[in-house]
Amino acid sequence: MAENEWGSNLSFILAMIGSAVGLGNIWRYPYVLYSNGGGAFYIPYIVAILLMGIPFLILEYGVGYDFKSSFAKAVKKIDSRWEYLGWFLPVAVFLIMIYYSAILGWDGIYIILSFFKGWGADPNVYFTNTLLHSSNSWMGLLQFIPLIAVAMLVGWVIIWFISHRDLEEGLGRVSKVLVPLLFVIMVVIVGFSLTLPGASIGLSELFHPNWALLGNFEIWMAAFGQIVFSLSLGMSIAFTYASYTKDDADLITNTISIALANSLFENFAALGVFSILGYMSLQSGTAVADLVTQGTGLVFIVYPTVFNVLGQWAYVLGPLFFLTVYLAGLTSILSTIEPLSFSIQNKFGFTRSKTMTLLIIVGALISMIYATAYGGSILGYVDTFINQIALLLGIIFECIIFAWIFKAEKLIDFLNSRSKTIKLGKWWVIIVKYILPIFILIVWIGGMMDVIKSSTFEQLVFTVISAAVLLIGTLVLTILPAKNPDWENYEERI
Ligand code: PFF
Repeated sequence: MAENEWGSNLSFILAMIGSAVGLGNIWRYPYVLYSNGGGAFYIPYIVAILLMGIPFLILEYGVGYDFKSSFAKAVKKIDSRWEYLGWFLPVAVFLIMIYYSAILGWDGIYIILSFFKGWGADPNVYFTNTLLHSSNSWMGLLQFIPLIAVAMLVGWVIIWFISHRDLEEGLGRVSKVLVPLLFVIMVVIVGFSLTLPGASIGLSELFHPNWALLGNFEIWMAAFGQIVFSLSLGMSIAFTYASYTKDDADLITNTISIALANSLFENFAALGVFSILGYMSLQSGTAVADLVTQGTGLVFIVYPTVFNVLGQWAYVLGPLFFLTVYLAGLTSILSTIEPLSFSIQNKFGFTRSKTMTLLIIVGALISMIYATAYGGSILGYVDTFINQIALLLGIIFECIIFAWIFKAEKLIDFLNSRSKTIKLGKWWVIIVKYILPIFILIVWIGGMMDVIKSSTFEQLVFTVISAAVLLIGTLVLTILPAKNPDWENYEERI
């Protein structure tokens, strides 16, 4: 089997689910659901999946499957003047990988701490001061934190161990084990959480529908934003994974399965998170609304606080919970290196193994800025820039290049002839050509205004630095001369 080929359709689907199911499903979705109308949020959420998530994934898969080559190479083939954009997304996604490795490192430390509640009586003080030595000043860059560096390096070694092998032998096999395991552990955690006293308090808070919010533009934006992030839309990952398939694949049915599995997982996670918050509310007398939060605050502060009052059960639930976060993060981070790695292999003729080793060394070295006392702040700035600005632009580019220049219409017969479920029609072309790019543009402008309005001086500086790294990295890869004679040769499937 070739070094970049899935062994079966199952490996492809499970690796895609592994990429989609990540931190966003565990620490972002429950909060988004709660703060945007509870039960009423399901209406914009389902609309976002049907109108954007599934149609756009089908487009990315379809073009990736057709070209059977890396993202940069395909974009160059569609129109060689756009090669720059072909590198933009893979580089942006690689930048995500670098900061994801920090979160993975923190979580690795918490897996160990959870066996003896090593965060002590005040998890907030532990996380912010004892572990991260959080500093809001540039001087924090000079303060290196060896524990975090070691935890991150452990993550990089695991990633290298899996990614430098041939695709099926590494990522394919690992996805077939870890993704089902992730779902099983989640079921155990949620099953246990539902039996906790007070669980129903949390759940009725979560689902209590606020229908009045449906008329509010913001909850629609929140639903579309969540689907972009959660399904990893427009990140060139779906494209790359589809290009690795060798046999005839039913891409439409695959897409629907992946979107369903992703939604199932995040709604399950929401049940678990709110049952636990309900329990905490009952124990502490604090309202659920005052406990709920998202991101690192939820995972590394609220959860340890809950485990502190949970007694003996915390020694089982704690390690399981942090392990789930680790597995979810790991299967996502593994996908973030694939688009850039495959594009480099195609252009410069390196083997998969050599490219992965090189990229992982570069990534690990750069990631060390997150192992400083100022690292936590930088991470927040870079994350906002990539998610609110760079990736949304990526989706708009993809719509232009794939739907307009390549012409989405060309894919319809090809995809329909392989689909055992839904068949595409003209509606699909209208969505990917008009509705989607216009909508994303609106969300992008909203995000930009948000960043500009709420930015501190430091945030602006780091936004500019991140943009410079992204643009220069992209430029260098575009202008370096190709070393692989195959870079100019193309073979399409349709
Ligand atoms: N989709 C992942 C999640 O919901 O957590 C996040 C993610 C994965 C973002 C891969 C970016 C990425 F390249």
